[in-house]
Amino acid sequence: MDCTALVTKQEIDGALAQLNLLYDGYKAQGLKLDMQRGRPCAEQLGLSNAMLDWGGAPYLCENGVDARNYGGDIEGTPEARRVVAEMLDVLPRNVIVWGSSSLNIMYDCIAKALLLGVYGGSEPWLAQAARGGGGKLKFLCPVPGYDRHFLITERLGFEMINVEMRADGPDMDAVERLVESDELIKGIWNIPKYNNPTGITYSDAVVRRFAALRPKARDFRIFWDNSYCVHDLYGESDSLTELISEAKKHGNEDMVYVFTSTSKVTFAGAGLAAIAASENNVKFIGKQLSVQSIGADKLNQLRHARFIQDRAHLKEIMARHAELIRPKFELVLSILKEEFGETAGAAGAEGAGGLCAWNNPRGGYFISLDAPDFCATEALRLAAEAGVRFTPAGATFPYGKDPRDRNIRIAPTVPSLDEVRLAVRVLALCVKLAYLNRKRRTSI
Ligand SMILES: Cc1ncc(COP(=O)(O)O)c(C=O)c1O
Repeated sequence: MDCTALVTKQEIDGALAQLNLLYDGYKAQGLKLDMQRGRPCAEQLGLSNAMLDWGGAPYLCENGVDARNYGGDIEGTPEARRVVAEMLDVLPRNVIVWGSSSLNIMYDCIAKALLLGVYGGSEPWLAQAARGGGGKLKFLCPVPGYDRHFLITERLGFEMINVEMRADGPDMDAVERLVESDELIKGIWNIPKYNNPTGITYSDAVVRRFAALRPKARDFRIFWDNSYCVHDLYGESDSLTELISEAKKHGNEDMVYVFTSTSKVTFAGAGLAAIAASENNVKFIGKQLSVQSIGADKLNQLRHARFIQDRAHLKEIMARHAELIRPKFELVLSILKEEFGETAGAAGAEGAGGLCAWNNPRGGYFISLDAPDFCATEALRLAAEAGVRFTPAGATFPYGKDPRDRNIRIAPTVPSLDEVRLAVRVLALCVKLAYLNRKRRTSI
């Protein structure tokens, strides 16, 4: 059914009657489906179970430090730093492996910047805000983006400024204009590869513009959350220019914080998390960490390094993940195509036409669907009432407010193929219902 072609009240009512019948049928099934969060499924977690078995291997790190005891470098074991460096295309000396949650490191970096300042900064961010007459510190947020990023900057008191996400990365004209003119803008969130939720990878041109930024705030930081750096769905990886070395060409390497983790390589929330940065930053952050803790969990670092081994073996591990989840992504995309016709481009891309637009990701964990304007909340309410839960409407925007109320994030990795099929059929039906109900209201 092409909902956009329905014009008269009779046509719309006729279509609504048919769709409501289908909807009542789904409701009667008492469904309980959850497509909310991008987590690995049980089979993916099983791929790393071998890691939990020490198999009598020694507990010694390659530098001779006993992983069961205090001691060793605050920046992490040499083998774990090497594994992360290979993931991020940087040198091990630029890496600090720390804990098991990259989100925690991001929070920590911002909290410390507020209280203590960053390398090269004249004073803590909070002190600057107070001295400037209490003006609010600000953070740039390419949208749609990751709800947990936005929650951190919201709770830590920043004013968040939306920047449009395009098919090749954020609107860089806007980013440059804003950071070059406002000293209170202290950072920007980015997920540069297989973006959450749009799936896009930043182009070389966009990365080069980031590297060359001239922020008014000399202690500005680019938060480069490269969570999906190795998470290819297909054999060939999207290529992402490495930002720290690119920024170095402009003397800007201290402006960059890169983050990643193995939450979706090994175990979610129980993997390796890391920050990569310039040598100045690594030294500065390492010093702060040594006040905060005696040392990280070296046992986890050691077993991860032994399990992941090197770049080639990591590629094999990720190919096994892809085999498990690629069919789910392809199923979602084929149903969207069946339900809504051909899409004209990725979400955020220009020229999207038809009732909805969505991306065709080549990696990562999400499909981003743009429903017709002002229909996402209602569509997801209807879906929830039929027992199918998605990430709440608005979640992909700061303050939970999608100005066009249209973006829907689909996370297909956890449910089975049958569940994915059912959930996306219900979603498509609810989008059509929301659209036609609105069209009926607004055109009468
Ligand atoms: C973009 C992004 N960053 C960070 C995380 C969380 O990572 P971690 O488990 O390392 O805290 C996620 C999880 O979904 C994510 O999508």
